[in-house]
Amino acid sequence: MKRKTFLRSAAAVASVAAVVALSACGGADSPDAGGDGGGGGDTISIGFSQVGAESGWRAANTKSIQDTLTEENGFKLSFSDAQQKQENQIQAIRSYIAQGQDVIAFSPVVETGWDAVLQEAQAAGIPVILTDRAVDTEDDSLYESFIGSDFVLEGERAGNWVAENFDGESMKLVELQGTTGSAPAIDRKEGFAAAIDGTDIELVDSQTGDFTRAGGKQVMEGFLNSHNDIDIVFAHNDDMGLGAIEAIEAAGLTPGEDVKIVTIDAVKDGMQALADGKINYIVECNPMLGEDLAEIAKKVVAGEEVEKRIVVEDAEFDQQQAAEALPDRLY
Ligand code: AHR
Repeated sequence: MKRKTFLRSAAAVASVAAVVALSACGGADSPDAGGDGGGGGDTISIGFSQVGAESGWRAANTKSIQDTLTEENGFKLSFSDAQQKQENQIQAIRSYIAQGQDVIAFSPVVETGWDAVLQEAQAAGIPVILTDRAVDTEDDSLYESFIGSDFVLEGERAGNWVAENFDGESMKLVELQGTTGSAPAIDRKEGFAAAIDGTDIELVDSQTGDFTRAGGKQVMEGFLNSHNDIDIVFAHNDDMGLGAIEAIEAAGLTPGEDVKIVTIDAVKDGMQALADGKINYIVECNPMLGEDLAEIAKKVVAGEEVEKRIVVEDAEFDQQQAAEALPDRLY
């Protein structure tokens, strides 16, 4: 687990006064969940609503959560996959409230539109922990803690690499954005744009590929059809970058040479493409959030003070560093 930075402490002790211990009522998404989960007095029942299975990063993140929130570690986990749909996440959270889970955790697919369901959790006395992605709300008492990377910084680091290597060369750049309205898509775009501001690198097109390999390929095909001489691709994640590689190769060009590619995540497939010379630079987004989530959930249930924002630290890799890191890469 990477070291983390505790940015600030919550002013208030986590509100866990009335952990509701309802009997299991078998929500549609997780029929075995509820209350103390039947795991004994000290077991923490936790409902986790995952965004989906859109990327290699997401698969690694799910594995980290499922491998950590185990019965041996004191948890009874109810896990649901929202298939990248906010309505599915809201439905899952409502199920977890009805089941009287001790804690609810989720990675919000988009930033806005959560206040109503978070107020319902709060009214039921169930603490909520955000992982990976933030929500946009005026009322930060609606969640106990947010654990995840600094996405603006990730975008900025990718942009700094582009600016340092290509400013002065009048390069044309296209951007493959993540899911529209999601925190990483908004923040990475912002950080990257700030880093290349004032350079002669020209952003000629920017569209969403929804963080998927198929989306990245399809959007890149469109970019190659409508723009001559694309020099650089900035993909908001590895999977879209890998899809772009397929489109670039199909167009008879050499990724990493004719078209430079910078991505974010540093999952194994991305790192392999980087080591193979098809991607030029990757900024890491660490998906191993399970341990932090377990620690914060235990503290919240114990009524201890928790950090409102936990920033997970990320690395960055060039081609040689990727080749060196690959043999020991966990995800
Ligand atoms: O929220 C993290 C992002 O979501 C990852 O960068 C991406 O791969 C995933 O789908």
